[in-house]
Amino acid sequence: VFSPSVYKAPGQQAFQLGQPAIDAFPHAIWHRLLSRRYRCSWQELFGYQDAFGYPPLRAAIAAYLGVARGVQCSPDQVIITAGSQQGLDLLARTLLQPDDAVWMEDPGYGGARWAFQRAGLRVVPVPLDHAGLDVSAAQNLAPDARLAFVTPSHQFPLGMTMSLERRLALLAWATDRQSWIVEDDCNSEYRYAGRPLPALQGLDTSGRVLYLGTFSNILFPALRLGYLVVPSALVDTLMTARRVVDLHAPALEQAVVADFIVQGHFVRHIRRMRTLYTHRQTVLRTAIGRYLPGILEVHPDPAGMHLVAWLPPQLAESEPIVQAAHAIGLELLPLSWFSVGPLRRQGLVLGYAAIDDDQIIEGVRTLSRVVERTLKDSRQNVLRDA
Ligand SMILES: Cc1ncc(COP(=O)(O)O)c(C=O)c1O
Repeated sequence: VFSPSVYKAPGQQAFQLGQPAIDAFPHAIWHRLLSRRYRCSWQELFGYQDAFGYPPLRAAIAAYLGVARGVQCSPDQVIITAGSQQGLDLLARTLLQPDDAVWMEDPGYGGARWAFQRAGLRVVPVPLDHAGLDVSAAQNLAPDARLAFVTPSHQFPLGMTMSLERRLALLAWATDRQSWIVEDDCNSEYRYAGRPLPALQGLDTSGRVLYLGTFSNILFPALRLGYLVVPSALVDTLMTARRVVDLHAPALEQAVVADFIVQGHFVRHIRRMRTLYTHRQTVLRTAIGRYLPGILEVHPDPAGMHLVAWLPPQLAESEPIVQAAHAIGLELLPLSWFSVGPLRRQGLVLGYAAIDDDQIIEGVRTLSRVVERTLKDSRQNVLRDA
Protein backbone atom coordinates (compact mmCIF):
# COMPACT_ATOMS: atom_id res chain seq x y z
CA VAL A 1 0.00 0.00 0.00
CA PHE A 2 1.17 3.50 -0.90
CA SER A 3 2.76 5.20 2.04
CA PRO A 4 4.04 8.70 1.35
CA SER A 5 6.33 8.86 4.37
CA VAL A 6 8.39 5.74 3.63
CA TYR A 7 11.11 7.54 1.71
CA LYS A 8 10.93 10.88 3.45
CA ALA A 9 14.56 11.58 4.21
CA PRO A 10 15.19 13.30 7.54
CA GLY A 11 17.87 15.81 6.53
CA GLN A 12 18.71 16.82 3.01
CA GLN A 13 15.69 16.64 0.69
CA ALA A 14 17.30 16.82 -2.70
CA PHE A 15 15.03 15.18 -5.22
CA GLN A 16 11.58 15.63 -3.70
CA LEU A 17 8.75 14.94 -6.11
CA GLY A 18 5.87 17.30 -6.80
CA GLN A 19 7.49 20.11 -4.83
CA PRO A 20 7.58 23.45 -6.69
CA ALA A 21 10.24 26.14 -6.25
CA ILE A 22 8.95 27.73 -3.08
CA ASP A 23 12.16 29.81 -2.98
CA ALA A 24 10.93 31.54 -6.17
CA PHE A 25 7.35 32.01 -4.96
CA PRO A 26 6.12 35.65 -5.12
CA HIS A 27 5.86 35.93 -1.33
CA ALA A 28 5.42 39.72 -1.29
CA ILE A 29 2.41 39.57 -3.63
CA TRP A 30 0.86 36.70 -1.68
CA HIS A 31 1.39 38.56 1.58
CA ARG A 32 -0.20 41.71 0.16
CA LEU A 33 -3.26 39.85 -1.16
CA LEU A 34 -3.67 37.91 2.07
CA SER A 35 -3.45 41.04 4.24
CA ARG A 36 -5.91 42.91 2.07
CA ARG A 37 -8.42 40.07 2.18
CA TYR A 38 -7.98 39.71 5.92
CA ARG A 39 -8.52 43.45 6.43
CA CYS A 40 -11.38 43.97 3.99
CA SER A 41 -13.27 40.68 3.74
CA TRP A 42 -12.93 38.88 7.05
CA GLN A 43 -16.62 39.29 7.86
CA GLU A 44 -17.55 37.57 4.61
CA LEU A 45 -14.85 34.90 4.87
CA PHE A 46 -14.99 33.82 8.51
CA GLY A 47 -18.45 32.17 8.41
CA TYR A 48 -19.59 28.91 6.83
CA GLN A 49 -19.27 28.86 3.05
CA ASP A 50 -20.51 27.11 -0.06
CA ALA A 51 -19.60 23.39 -0.05
CA PHE A 52 -18.36 23.62 -3.63
CA GLY A 53 -16.03 26.51 -2.94
CA TYR A 54 -15.72 30.28 -3.05
CA PRO A 55 -17.73 31.36 -6.14
CA PRO A 56 -15.18 33.86 -7.54
CA LEU A 57 -12.50 31.15 -7.34
CA ARG A 58 -14.70 28.64 -9.18
CA ALA A 59 -15.34 31.26 -11.87
CA ALA A 60 -11.63 32.11 -12.14
CA ILE A 61 -10.71 28.42 -12.51
CA ALA A 62 -13.37 27.80 -15.17
CA ALA A 63 -12.16 30.81 -17.17
CA TYR A 64 -8.49 29.84 -16.82
CA LEU A 65 -9.08 26.19 -17.81
CA GLY A 66 -11.10 27.19 -20.85
CA VAL A 67 -8.29 29.37 -22.19
CA ALA A 68 -5.23 27.41 -21.03
CA ARG A 69 -6.41 23.79 -21.29
CA GLY A 70 -9.43 23.77 -23.60
CA VAL A 71 -11.61 22.48 -20.75
CA GLN A 72 -15.32 23.01 -21.45
CA CYS A 73 -17.13 23.89 -18.27
CA SER A 74 -19.16 26.46 -16.39
CA PRO A 75 -18.21 27.56 -12.85
CA ASP A 76 -21.07 25.38 -11.53
CA GLN A 77 -19.11 22.27 -12.55
CA VAL A 78 -16.02 23.25 -10.54
CA ILE A 79 -15.67 21.77 -7.04
CA ILE A 80 -12.90 23.08 -4.80
CA THR A 81 -11.18 20.27 -2.91
CA ALA A 82 -8.37 19.89 -0.38
CA GLY A 83 -5.84 19.14 -3.13
CA SER A 84 -6.43 16.56 -5.83
CA GLN A 85 -6.05 13.83 -3.22
CA GLN A 86 -9.40 14.72 -1.69
CA GLY A 87 -10.93 14.79 -5.18
CA LEU A 88 -9.69 11.25 -5.82
CA ASP A 89 -11.04 10.01 -2.51
CA LEU A 90 -14.39 11.68 -3.14
CA LEU A 91 -14.76 10.15 -6.60
CA ALA A 92 -13.62 6.69 -5.52
CA ARG A 93 -16.14 6.54 -2.70
CA THR A 94 -19.03 8.28 -4.43
CA LEU A 95 -19.12 6.97 -7.98
CA LEU A 96 -18.03 3.35 -7.49
CA GLN A 97 -18.92 0.32 -5.40
CA PRO A 98 -16.39 -1.84 -3.53
CA ASP A 99 -14.84 -4.41 -5.83
CA ASP A 100 -15.50 -2.37 -8.98
CA ALA A 101 -12.53 -2.55 -11.35
CA VAL A 102 -10.43 0.55 -12.07
CA TRP A 103 -7.85 0.83 -14.86
CA MET A 104 -4.68 2.40 -13.59
CA GLU A 105 -1.60 3.37 -15.61
CA ASP A 106 1.33 1.16 -14.61
CA PRO A 107 3.64 2.70 -13.52
CA GLY A 108 1.28 5.36 -12.26
CA TYR A 109 0.40 7.88 -9.58
CA GLY A 110 0.53 6.31 -6.11
CA GLY A 111 -1.91 8.86 -4.65
CA ALA A 112 -4.64 7.61 -6.99
CA ARG A 113 -3.90 3.95 -6.37
CA TRP A 114 -3.98 4.62 -2.66
CA ALA A 115 -7.42 6.28 -2.83
CA PHE A 116 -8.83 3.47 -4.99
CA GLN A 117 -7.48 0.72 -2.76
CA ARG A 118 -8.81 2.38 0.38
CA ALA A 119 -12.25 2.56 -1.22
CA GLY A 120 -12.11 -1.22 -1.74
CA LEU A 121 -11.85 -0.94 -5.53
CA ARG A 122 -10.08 -3.53 -7.66
CA VAL A 123 -7.07 -1.75 -9.17
CA VAL A 124 -6.14 -3.21 -12.56
CA PRO A 125 -2.62 -2.18 -13.62
CA VAL A 126 -2.56 -1.43 -17.36
CA PRO A 127 0.67 -1.33 -19.38
CA LEU A 128 1.79 1.81 -21.21
CA ASP A 129 3.42 2.34 -24.57
CA HIS A 130 4.73 5.47 -26.33
CA ALA A 131 1.10 6.73 -26.75
CA GLY A 132 0.08 6.26 -23.12
CA LEU A 133 -2.34 3.79 -21.54
CA ASP A 134 -2.85 0.79 -23.83
CA VAL A 135 -6.64 0.84 -24.21
CA SER A 136 -6.87 -2.54 -26.03
CA ALA A 137 -4.75 -4.23 -23.35
CA ALA A 138 -7.00 -2.67 -20.69
CA GLN A 139 -10.12 -3.95 -22.44
CA ASN A 140 -8.67 -7.45 -22.43
CA LEU A 141 -7.63 -7.22 -18.79
CA ALA A 142 -10.88 -5.82 -17.37
CA PRO A 143 -13.58 -4.97 -19.92
CA ASP A 144 -16.00 -4.34 -17.05
CA ALA A 145 -13.93 -1.55 -15.45
CA ARG A 146 -16.02 1.31 -14.09
CA LEU A 147 -13.28 3.93 -14.19
CA ALA A 148 -9.93 4.69 -15.86
CA PHE A 149 -7.35 6.89 -14.18
CA VAL A 150 -5.04 8.66 -16.66
CA THR A 151 -2.50 11.49 -16.86
CA PRO A 152 -2.75 12.25 -20.61
CA SER A 153 -0.83 15.54 -20.82
CA HIS A 154 2.32 14.14 -19.19
CA GLN A 155 2.11 10.57 -17.99
CA PHE A 156 3.10 10.32 -14.37
CA PRO A 157 5.88 9.30 -13.88
CA LEU A 158 7.20 8.29 -17.35
CA GLY A 159 6.25 11.50 -19.17
CA MET A 160 4.71 10.44 -22.50
CA THR A 161 1.76 12.38 -23.93
CA MET A 162 -1.34 10.35 -24.71
CA SER A 163 -1.96 10.44 -28.46
CA LEU A 164 -5.19 11.81 -29.91
CA GLU A 165 -6.08 8.39 -31.26
CA ARG A 166 -5.69 6.86 -27.79
CA ARG A 167 -7.77 9.65 -26.21
CA LEU A 168 -10.57 8.99 -28.66
CA ALA A 169 -10.37 5.23 -28.03
CA LEU A 170 -10.60 5.80 -24.28
CA LEU A 171 -13.57 8.14 -24.67
CA ALA A 172 -15.31 5.66 -26.97
CA TRP A 173 -14.85 2.90 -24.38
CA ALA A 174 -16.15 5.10 -21.53
CA THR A 175 -19.16 6.23 -23.56
CA ASP A 176 -19.96 2.72 -24.70
CA ARG A 177 -19.64 1.16 -21.20
CA GLN A 178 -20.99 4.17 -19.29
CA SER A 179 -17.75 4.19 -17.31
CA TRP A 180 -15.78 7.16 -15.98
CA ILE A 181 -12.44 8.64 -16.97
CA VAL A 182 -10.49 10.55 -14.33
CA GLU A 183 -8.07 12.91 -16.06
CA ASP A 184 -5.34 14.08 -13.69
CA ASP A 185 -3.91 17.13 -15.48
CA CYS A 186 -1.38 17.81 -12.75
CA ASN A 187 1.44 20.12 -13.89
CA SER A 188 0.30 20.31 -17.51
CA GLU A 189 1.26 23.99 -17.24
CA TYR A 190 4.91 23.03 -17.19
CA ARG A 191 5.52 22.30 -20.84
CA TYR A 192 8.80 23.63 -22.15
CA ALA A 193 8.73 22.79 -25.84
CA GLY A 194 5.96 22.62 -28.39
CA ARG A 195 2.31 23.24 -27.70
CA PRO A 196 0.54 20.98 -25.21
CA LEU A 197 -2.42 18.95 -26.41
CA PRO A 198 -5.56 20.39 -24.85
CA ALA A 199 -7.17 18.41 -22.06
CA LEU A 200 -9.01 15.17 -22.83
CA GLN A 201 -12.02 16.71 -21.07
CA GLY A 202 -12.45 19.13 -23.98
CA LEU A 203 -13.08 16.21 -26.35
CA ASP A 204 -15.74 14.63 -24.16
CA THR A 205 -19.24 15.07 -25.55
CA SER A 206 -20.87 12.38 -23.39
CA GLY A 207 -20.11 13.66 -19.88
CA ARG A 208 -17.76 10.80 -18.94
CA VAL A 209 -14.61 12.75 -17.92
CA LEU A 210 -13.86 14.03 -14.44
CA TYR A 211 -11.01 16.49 -14.58
CA LEU A 212 -8.64 16.81 -11.64
CA GLY A 213 -6.45 19.87 -11.01
CA THR A 214 -4.31 21.15 -8.16
CA PHE A 215 -2.58 24.29 -6.90
CA SER A 216 0.05 22.16 -5.14
CA ASN A 217 2.55 22.19 -8.00
CA ILE A 218 2.00 25.78 -9.12
CA LEU A 219 1.57 27.61 -5.83
CA PHE A 220 2.57 25.40 -2.89
CA PRO A 221 1.44 21.96 -1.66
CA ALA A 222 0.67 22.99 1.93
CA LEU A 223 -2.06 25.27 0.59
CA ARG A 224 -4.12 22.07 0.13
CA LEU A 225 -6.35 23.46 -2.58
CA GLY A 226 -7.26 21.67 -5.77
CA TYR A 227 -10.36 21.19 -7.88
CA LEU A 228 -12.54 18.78 -9.75
CA VAL A 229 -14.41 19.65 -12.92
CA VAL A 230 -17.35 17.28 -13.16
CA PRO A 231 -20.07 16.59 -15.74
CA SER A 232 -23.27 18.54 -14.99
CA ALA A 233 -25.19 15.32 -14.31
CA LEU A 234 -22.92 14.57 -11.32
CA VAL A 235 -23.01 17.99 -9.69
CA ASP A 236 -25.79 17.24 -7.15
CA THR A 237 -24.42 13.83 -6.11
CA LEU A 238 -20.92 15.19 -5.59
CA MET A 239 -22.23 18.31 -3.86
CA THR A 240 -23.83 16.13 -1.17
CA ALA A 241 -20.72 13.96 -0.82
CA ARG A 242 -18.39 16.98 -0.69
CA ARG A 243 -20.41 18.56 2.10
CA VAL A 244 -20.30 15.41 4.23
CA VAL A 245 -16.51 15.17 4.06
CA ASP A 246 -15.43 18.54 5.49
CA LEU A 247 -18.20 21.06 4.66
CA HIS A 248 -15.90 23.22 2.52
CA ALA A 249 -12.31 24.33 1.91
CA PRO A 250 -10.83 27.25 3.90
CA ALA A 251 -12.32 30.48 2.56
CA LEU A 252 -9.56 33.03 3.17
CA GLU A 253 -7.03 31.06 1.08
CA GLN A 254 -9.60 30.47 -1.66
CA ALA A 255 -10.22 34.21 -1.89
CA VAL A 256 -6.49 34.92 -2.10
CA VAL A 257 -6.03 32.34 -4.87
CA ALA A 258 -8.97 33.89 -6.76
CA ASP A 259 -7.33 37.34 -6.53
CA PHE A 260 -3.99 35.85 -7.53
CA ILE A 261 -5.54 34.41 -10.70
CA VAL A 262 -7.79 37.34 -11.61
CA GLN A 263 -5.00 39.90 -11.18
CA GLY A 264 -2.73 37.99 -13.58
CA HIS A 265 -0.13 36.82 -11.03
CA PHE A 266 -0.95 33.16 -11.65
CA VAL A 267 -0.15 33.18 -15.35
CA ARG A 268 2.93 35.35 -14.79
CA HIS A 269 4.18 32.97 -12.09
CA ILE A 270 3.69 29.94 -14.36
CA ARG A 271 5.66 31.70 -17.12
CA ARG A 272 8.54 32.46 -14.75
CA MET A 273 8.55 28.91 -13.40
CA ARG A 274 8.69 27.46 -16.91
CA THR A 275 11.94 29.30 -17.51
CA LEU A 276 13.32 28.31 -14.11
CA TYR A 277 12.39 24.62 -14.41
CA THR A 278 13.78 24.37 -17.94
CA HIS A 279 17.05 25.63 -16.49
CA ARG A 280 16.95 23.30 -13.48
CA GLN A 281 16.26 20.29 -15.67
CA THR A 282 19.30 21.18 -17.80
CA VAL A 283 21.44 21.51 -14.67
CA LEU A 284 20.28 18.07 -13.50
CA ARG A 285 20.96 16.41 -16.85
CA THR A 286 24.37 18.06 -17.13
CA ALA A 287 25.33 17.01 -13.59
CA ILE A 288 24.27 13.41 -14.25
CA GLY A 289 26.29 13.43 -17.47
CA ARG A 290 29.30 14.67 -15.53
CA TYR A 291 29.14 12.62 -12.31
CA LEU A 292 27.36 9.45 -13.45
CA PRO A 293 28.38 9.09 -17.11
CA GLY A 294 27.33 5.80 -18.67
CA ILE A 295 25.67 4.78 -15.40
CA LEU A 296 22.45 6.76 -15.16
CA GLU A 297 20.65 7.41 -18.43
CA VAL A 298 18.45 10.51 -18.67
CA HIS A 299 16.68 12.05 -21.62
CA PRO A 300 15.41 15.60 -22.00
CA ASP A 301 11.75 15.83 -21.02
CA PRO A 302 9.73 18.61 -22.69
CA ALA A 303 7.48 18.86 -19.63
CA GLY A 304 7.12 18.26 -15.90
CA MET A 305 9.08 18.73 -12.71
CA HIS A 306 11.05 15.48 -12.53
CA LEU A 307 13.16 13.17 -14.67
CA VAL A 308 13.33 9.41 -14.75
CA ALA A 309 16.99 8.34 -14.51
CA TRP A 310 17.37 4.81 -15.87
CA LEU A 311 19.71 2.47 -14.01
CA PRO A 312 22.14 0.15 -15.83
CA PRO A 313 20.21 -2.86 -17.20
CA GLN A 314 22.29 -5.28 -15.07
CA LEU A 315 20.86 -3.73 -11.88
CA ALA A 316 17.71 -5.73 -11.20
CA GLU A 317 16.87 -3.82 -8.01
CA SER A 318 16.74 -0.10 -7.29
CA GLU A 319 15.83 -0.57 -3.66
CA PRO A 320 19.44 -0.79 -2.30
CA ILE A 321 20.36 2.54 -3.92
CA VAL A 322 17.27 4.25 -2.58
CA GLN A 323 17.79 2.83 0.91
CA ALA A 324 21.46 3.85 0.95
CA ALA A 325 20.59 7.35 -0.29
CA HIS A 326 17.84 7.64 2.27
CA ALA A 327 20.17 6.59 5.07
CA ILE A 328 22.33 9.65 4.40
CA GLY A 329 19.37 11.99 4.05
CA LEU A 330 19.06 12.09 0.26
CA GLU A 331 15.43 11.90 -0.82
CA LEU A 332 14.55 10.14 -4.06
CA LEU A 333 12.08 7.51 -5.17
CA PRO A 334 12.59 4.33 -7.16
CA LEU A 335 10.47 3.89 -10.27
CA SER A 336 9.37 0.55 -8.81
CA TRP A 337 7.49 2.50 -6.14
CA PHE A 338 5.01 3.59 -8.82
CA SER A 339 4.52 0.22 -10.47
CA VAL A 340 2.52 -2.89 -9.70
CA GLY A 341 3.71 -5.14 -12.52
CA PRO A 342 7.37 -5.88 -13.32
CA LEU A 343 9.42 -3.07 -14.89
CA ARG A 344 11.44 -3.61 -18.06
CA ARG A 345 14.19 -1.52 -16.50
CA GLN A 346 14.74 -0.03 -13.07
CA GLY A 347 15.01 3.71 -12.57
CA LEU A 348 15.03 6.57 -10.12
CA VAL A 349 12.52 9.40 -10.19
CA LEU A 350 14.27 12.69 -9.49
CA GLY A 351 12.31 15.87 -8.75
CA TYR A 352 14.33 18.96 -9.70
CA ALA A 353 11.89 21.89 -9.50
CA ALA A 354 12.31 22.73 -5.82
CA ILE A 355 16.09 22.89 -5.59
CA ASP A 356 18.65 25.39 -6.82
CA ASP A 357 21.70 24.71 -9.01
CA ASP A 358 24.08 24.06 -6.11
CA GLN A 359 21.67 21.65 -4.42
CA ILE A 360 21.10 19.79 -7.68
CA ILE A 361 24.83 19.38 -8.29
CA GLU A 362 25.54 18.42 -4.68
CA GLY A 363 22.62 15.94 -4.76
CA VAL A 364 23.97 14.29 -7.93
CA ARG A 365 27.48 14.06 -6.45
CA THR A 366 26.11 12.38 -3.36
CA LEU A 367 23.99 10.11 -5.52
CA SER A 368 27.00 9.16 -7.63
CA ARG A 369 28.84 7.93 -4.53
CA VAL A 370 25.79 5.89 -3.48
CA VAL A 371 25.28 4.39 -6.95
CA GLU A 372 28.95 3.50 -7.44
CA ARG A 373 29.14 1.84 -4.02
CA THR A 374 25.95 -0.14 -4.70
CA LEU A 375 27.20 -1.25 -8.11
CA LYS A 376 30.48 -2.38 -6.54
CA ASP A 377 28.63 -4.35 -3.85
CA SER A 378 26.40 -5.99 -6.45
CA ARG A 379 29.45 -6.99 -8.56
CA GLN A 380 31.10 -8.50 -5.46
CA ASN A 381 27.90 -10.42 -4.65
CA VAL A 382 27.80 -11.81 -8.20
CA LEU A 383 31.48 -12.92 -7.97
CA ARG A 384 30.92 -14.47 -4.54
CA ASP A 385 27.82 -16.37 -5.70
CA ALA A 386 29.66 -17.61 -8.84
C1 LIG B 1 0.18 12.90 -10.69
C2 LIG B 1 -0.07 13.83 -9.54
N1 LIG B 1 -1.33 14.22 -9.27
C3 LIG B 1 -1.59 15.08 -8.27
C4 LIG B 1 -0.58 15.60 -7.48
C5 LIG B 1 -0.91 16.62 -6.43
O1 LIG B 1 -1.61 16.12 -5.38
P1 LIG B 1 -2.29 17.11 -4.32
O2 LIG B 1 -3.11 18.10 -5.09
O3 LIG B 1 -3.14 16.22 -3.49
O4 LIG B 1 -1.21 17.79 -3.55
C6 LIG B 1 0.73 15.22 -7.69
C7 LIG B 1 1.79 15.75 -6.82
O5 LIG B 1 2.93 15.66 -7.07
C8 LIG B 1 1.00 14.32 -8.75
O6 LIG B 1 2.24 13.94 -9.02
